[in-house]
Amino acid sequence: MSFKILVVDDEESVGLGISRWLIKDGYQTTWVKSGEEALERLTREDFHLIFLDLFLPGLSGIPLLERIKKEFPDILVIVLTAYGDVHMAVQAMKMGAFDYLTKSSDMEELRLVARKALETKQLHREVKVLRAEIDRHYEAMTLVGNSQQIQEVNFLIKKISQIDQCTVLIVGESGTGKELVARTIHRQSSRAANPFIDISCSALPNPLMESELFGFERGAFTDAKSRKLGLVELADGGTLFLDEIGTLDLAMQAKLLRFLEQRSFRRIGGVKDIPVNISVIAATNNDLGKMVEEGTFRHDLYYRLNVFLIRVPPLRQRKEDIPLLVQYFINKFNHDFHKNIQGIHPEAQKMLVDYDYPGNIRELKNIIERAMIMEEGNMITVHSLDFFRTMRPNGQTLRQVAAADEFQGECKTEAKLKLEELERHYILEVLRETGGNKAQAALILGIARSTLFKKIKEYQLNDYLQ
Ligand SMILES: Nc1ncnc2c1ncn2[C@@H]1O[C@H](COP(=O)(O)OP(=O)(O)OP(=O)(O)O)[C@@H](O)[C@H]1O
Ligand SMILES: [Mg+2]
Repeated sequence: MSFKILVVDDEESVGLGISRWLIKDGYQTTWVKSGEEALERLTREDFHLIFLDLFLPGLSGIPLLERIKKEFPDILVIVLTAYGDVHMAVQAMKMGAFDYLTKSSDMEELRLVARKALETKQLHREVKVLRAEIDRHYEAMTLVGNSQQIQEVNFLIKKISQIDQCTVLIVGESGTGKELVARTIHRQSSRAANPFIDISCSALPNPLMESELFGFERGAFTDAKSRKLGLVELADGGTLFLDEIGTLDLAMQAKLLRFLEQRSFRRIGGVKDIPVNISVIAATNNDLGKMVEEGTFRHDLYYRLNVFLIRVPPLRQRKEDIPLLVQYFINKFNHDFHKNIQGIHPEAQKMLVDYDYPGNIRELKNIIERAMIMEEGNMITVHSLDFFRTMRPNGQTLRQVAAADEFQGECKTEAKLKLEELERHYILEVLRETGGNKAQAALILGIARSTLFKKIKEYQLNDYLQ
């Protein structure tokens, strides 16, 4: 990326001299003569660094620096002071200038300071990117599995990774590995060293989503005290992963479509289009085709995303992958928990293969994790899967068990669960489905929140919730 530098100096020999010198190092430079001109340029264009003469006619250096720091806090400023005017330089540094040069500094010093400032800038950007990623608990970097279906997914990943600036749609049930597919595409692509930014479209109300994605200019709305860069900008050069895309409302869908078609965007309150070079990967467990029919998803956005579709199959359709996955997770948790479990007893393995996994790989992973915590010996046995046996009778989801029981009007059907057990399982199931959201779970269960809290405690369900 080419950095842009603004030089503000009323003396042509200095301003132009600095600009020309810096161009040689590959920077794009602009020279302006006054503070007013500088502000005007800054609102129209993005700069990374400013060289600012503190002695300007009209709006002079210090008040100008104050405005720049307030309105464009991301831009670094190096001030130019008269020889020996340390007092002024100190004041500028206190106000947030990155560094200062005196007019007697030589050009080599100037280059050095510019380079240092821009390296710092790059670091700031990387820190931001890392922060954006810090919450993700991410483990596997490859798709484990040998089934025909997973081989096809791996083949598609390989193909699409070779395309620059791709747009991909990943669909599949919850826990099948959609995010893992997205990260693998990024990792296998030429963008691997650049940011992978993920955002869940359901995490934020749509108006906030827009500012999170595209950022805003200072003054775009009441609280916009300074410019904020959006995730799209942070992802420049890398990949943007839009998870749960089916939850975007129609207005936001239109904005996203515009962005996908032009690969440029406007910050909220901004007037210019900013181009970015990013790959976009969207994922959903909704049936977008159906949503298009129902009018809740734009058909044009659907077709734009659907150009390259990857369907991640549910685990129950590729049971032959289960033993491999089990071994993979055993190795992983051996590492995480400093354990040395060698494998799984055939009987226990059969139990795992026979089960249907409504929560897909995430569920299998959780089961192995828990079994490994419980296991004292060096093999996972049927015994260490006791919790799983009672939780998941006959491989049905607990909702199905509950529904079947209701239908038959008694509580000792296939699973022969006691009423109390059934309640416990059902609550756990709903809590899992709502991602642990107790308010929502209480609503679905039709009980008061306080009752739910009591039951969670009584049945010791907290241990089962991540
Ligand atoms: N083929 C696989 N090999 C190894 N680990 C996998 C595989 N598929 C998924 N996982 C692991 O399973 C867990 C769930 O996967 P992931 O978060 O990618 O699913 P998802 O489809 O995005 O789920 P959701 O729809 O709930 O967001 C993760 O810990 C992931 O690393
Ligand atoms: Mg996901």
